[in-house]
Amino acid sequence: MSKQSQSMRLDRYLATVTDYSRSEAKRLIKDGEVTVDGETVSNVGYAINNNSDVCLQGQVLRQAGPRYFMLNKPQGYVCAAKDRRHLTVLDLLDEDNPERLHAAGRLDVDTTGLVLLTDDGQWSHAITSPQRDCWKRYYVEVAEVISEKCIEHFARGVFLKDDKARTLPAELEILAPRRALLRLKEGRYHQVKRMFAAEGNAVTLLHREAIGDVELDESLAEGQYRALSEAEIKSVNHG
Ligand code: URA
Repeated sequence: MSKQSQSMRLDRYLATVTDYSRSEAKRLIKDGEVTVDGETVSNVGYAINNNSDVCLQGQVLRQAGPRYFMLNKPQGYVCAAKDRRHLTVLDLLDEDNPERLHAAGRLDVDTTGLVLLTDDGQWSHAITSPQRDCWKRYYVEVAEVISEKCIEHFARGVFLKDDKARTLPAELEILAPRRALLRLKEGRYHQVKRMFAAEGNAVTLLHREAIGDVELDESLAEGQYRALSEAEIKSVNHG
């Protein structure tokens, strides 16, 4: 079982780790096909825990551990489980049960670059919570020349339209008159675009390069993804 679920109903567990539906799982349990720690259990709501040994028709069942992927998101895809108008990042995955994965920090439909996908909620919280000091680095192109004053404004925090609190300190590195790198801890709605809008500028291209110590793998073409390495997973401090 995944580490966040301390206990789970037996029928739900069976439907989670096999291709059986919940009602088929119930039927199998009632038919005496399931044992927990060597004893046949016919109560579909029986609570199992991380250490329970569950067998179906004599076969030990194991839920795969949590999954972690990095995707190079192309434009035109949304970071949501479902969308009426657009394809979603989950449509790019060739994985079992993609609907169990979520993006640890969304990108807009027209933003490209690094998206981390997981089914580990605690891990993704460590990425998205502004209190957890997880920096995200964006490459930005804008319509107007970037003023040097922006560096100081973003370091101090700016007020975004319709938001009460200043943005947290962010680091702006100007690469060229209309190109920059921006490092942020927060992920407010359209944050990068709104920060530049607050300075009278407009973002024309936005690409996420890194989340914490996880850098977008340059060998991934747009739309491609790969599993994270152990070191990349551990680099997100979610203990
Ligand atoms: N900020 C934005 O404005 N858009 C994104 O997709 C990510 C950060």
